[in-house]
Amino acid sequence: MILAITGPTSGIGSETLKALIPDCEKALILARNPKKAKTLIETLSSDLQPKAIFIPIDLADMDSVTKAVGLIQKEVANIDVLINNAGGIFQNKEVTVDDFELTYAVNHLGHFLLTNLLMPLLQKSKSPKVINVSSEAHRAARPDFNDLQYKKKDYSSFNAYANVKLFNILFTKSLVDRYGDQGLGTYALHPGVVKSNFGMDTSGVFKLLWKLATPFMITPKQGAKTSIFLAKTKINKSLNGYYFKKSKPKKPSSQASSKKLRDRLWEVSEKSLAKWM
Ligand SMILES: NC(=O)c1ccc[n+]([C@@H]2O[C@H](COP(=O)([O-])OP(=O)(O)OC[C@H]3O[C@@H](n4cnc5c(N)ncnc54)[C@H](OP(=O)(O)O)[C@@H]3O)[C@@H](O)[C@H]2O)c1
Repeated sequence: MILAITGPTSGIGSETLKALIPDCEKALILARNPKKAKTLIETLSSDLQPKAIFIPIDLADMDSVTKAVGLIQKEVANIDVLINNAGGIFQNKEVTVDDFELTYAVNHLGHFLLTNLLMPLLQKSKSPKVINVSSEAHRAARPDFNDLQYKKKDYSSFNAYANVKLFNILFTKSLVDRYGDQGLGTYALHPGVVKSNFGMDTSGVFKLLWKLATPFMITPKQGAKTSIFLAKTKINKSLNGYYFKKSKPKKPSSQASSKKLRDRLWEVSEKSLAKWM
């Protein structure tokens, strides 16, 4: 298997990478922090280390995403499994170098661009898969397509996060609309409520609730199980585009199944990223 994974330097992504790399011919470590990527590679056993290839990428910077794709094209002739795992919730509104709201850029736009640019390499695989790490938080999404970037209304970190986790599922289903009949398997998932670095960039009520929930949280190793299952298992065609929880298909919110919403998201995303696509 040739694997590409975003966010492998922490939490769920790190455990997903460690579990999958023994089965990999090569594993592309798509990470923004070279020190963390180096430390991660050094934790692997000496026989696995040569399989790990660090590709610098900042999903909040679209030039960095296109550069990463250029480097990937030099390293591999195809990709079998792409896991779009990186993500986060951010307390205060931040705007990226490309003038995108940070939550939307990291969790959705960066992965939208990466996946689209990697599609030729995925299509060279016999049975390519794209796995998008979403969340049950998608059920609280209330996306306002007239103001996706909080330019008009007040920013809410949880609302911004819930929206992008809905977008992860909508994007999954759009990929099936576009590439499913050409053999691409695409899945979204909820990893569980996991004790990782997630939520560390928050304060106030969310941070308090998150802290209170800590004793009930699962470990990153447990949280990686569904991503690992989807990467390793041959999934029945009838489940293409599905949302999974605890390695089983789970019905997402009604918004997540809306073709109108996913077509709108695709159109808006493509328009915002036209310069890089
Ligand atoms: N934890 C939970 O309870 C939970 C629940 C549902 C869904 N999820 C989802 O699970 C995924 C993994 O989260 P986690 O819990 O493992 O959190 P985590 O420990 O904070 O890991 C997040 C990963 O994303 C990377 N990342 C963040 N911003 C990035 C950027 N601009 N460019 C490139 N990489 C970036 C981080 O890199 P650095 O190491 O450099 O910071 C890190 O590797 C996320 O998509 C999250 O939304 C988590």
